[in-house]
Amino acid sequence: MKILLLGSGGREHALAWKISQSPKCEQLYIAPGNAGTGNCGENVAMKADDFETIKTFCVEKAIDMVIVGPEDPLVKGIYDELKADSRTKDIPVIGPSKQGAVLEGSKDFAKAFMQRHQIPTARYQTFDGEHLEDGLCFLETLQAPYVLKADGLCAGKGVLILPTLEEAQKELKEMLGGMFGNASSQVVIEEFLSGIECSVFVLTDGDHYKILPEAKDYKRIGEHDTGLNTGGMGSVTPVPFATKEWMQKVEDRIIRPTVEGLKAENIDYKGFIFFGLINVEGEPMVIEYNCRMGDPETESVMLRLKSDIVDLFEGVAEGNLDEREIAFDERAAVCVMLVSGGYPQEYKKGYPITGIDQVEGSIVFHSGTALKDGQVVTNGGRVIAVSSYGKDKAEALQKSFEEAQKIQFTDKYFRRDIGADL
Ligand code: AMP
Ligand code: GLY
Repeated sequence: MKILLLGSGGREHALAWKISQSPKCEQLYIAPGNAGTGNCGENVAMKADDFETIKTFCVEKAIDMVIVGPEDPLVKGIYDELKADSRTKDIPVIGPSKQGAVLEGSKDFAKAFMQRHQIPTARYQTFDGEHLEDGLCFLETLQAPYVLKADGLCAGKGVLILPTLEEAQKELKEMLGGMFGNASSQVVIEEFLSGIECSVFVLTDGDHYKILPEAKDYKRIGEHDTGLNTGGMGSVTPVPFATKEWMQKVEDRIIRPTVEGLKAENIDYKGFIFFGLINVEGEPMVIEYNCRMGDPETESVMLRLKSDIVDLFEGVAEGNLDEREIAFDERAAVCVMLVSGGYPQEYKKGYPITGIDQVEGSIVFHSGTALKDGQVVTNGGRVIAVSSYGKDKAEALQKSFEEAQKIQFTDKYFRRDIGADL
């Protein structure tokens, strides 16, 4: 099979690493990719949301499958674009239709969907600019802290958690006044849930699903979960509180109703569903849906997937995912993210990265890197994911921390407490 994978981050490098191991993969293209994905296939200089160029490329290279890494092209409707063009309509796309991607693209849609299908989530209401007064009153009915979510995509910055009613009311006015542009023209206000979070991933063909290993990610820049939110500083799988019993609740109350709900509402969904869950006194509840894999969760989860991922994708495309085998590595896997100093605020790019070839005990996934005159250089906030196996989490983490020391670039930073809370 000739496969095109869209995206350029650590998630895509981990997917490319796994895909390229498949005997079914004859040729892998990654667009646009990064300095690491080029080792798993051929990078193609196309933007993941340049649909016309992507379609022409698919025709020219006789692509057999398109796998979409990030949410952006999905929310913009890449699935529908390919299906609507007679030249590309028969190419399977791993990723939902535009309508399916709304689960991530609109928090209001996601909340209403969960309500329609009795999926456990925080109590909420949605307000637009014309109903600001109602929103301010609704806040008064809730307890502190207050959770405000911009309805649309905001690159992970659209959720505010405010300690006092006054701050929440002030921020609500600002959000509805255009703080995040169109994305906050509607704001979801919801009850605060207290517990530990866990990411659960499912691959679905629209009828059947397979559950992948769960993972926990670490969002804050500072150790002990302090400081600003980032795209994710590391991940750990398995998650100790995600016991068999807990995962059974997740499947019965959340996964199955979601897949069946999508089908009942005639929403085309063939791809990953990412359930952002929180464990509230033993009961799983949904914080958010994403229409893709997580990053940096993919950089640990892929290590634990023993089966051929292309075979699973074929099952998605053909609607017979139930007939495909899925097996997991019993070992723990972790990922520690090396980031540019200053991230998630201002940081510099273009620093040479050395020592990657010294790494022996871990797997290195590039996140924000580029090649400049043959030299790998930093090209983003999150730069390199150092992923490792271990007989347990502690052993895997020790390996990642050790190997992380060998990779050098100016102002490198990483959290040394990944997994310490579990
Ligand atoms: P989201 O983009 O919806 O995942 O929200 C970003 C982060 O905000 C989540 O990962 C949680 O840590 C936090 N969060 C969102 N909603 C809630 C809630 N209802 N209660 C507590 N924390 C929340
Ligand atoms: N790790 C969280 C995300 O990918 O959104």
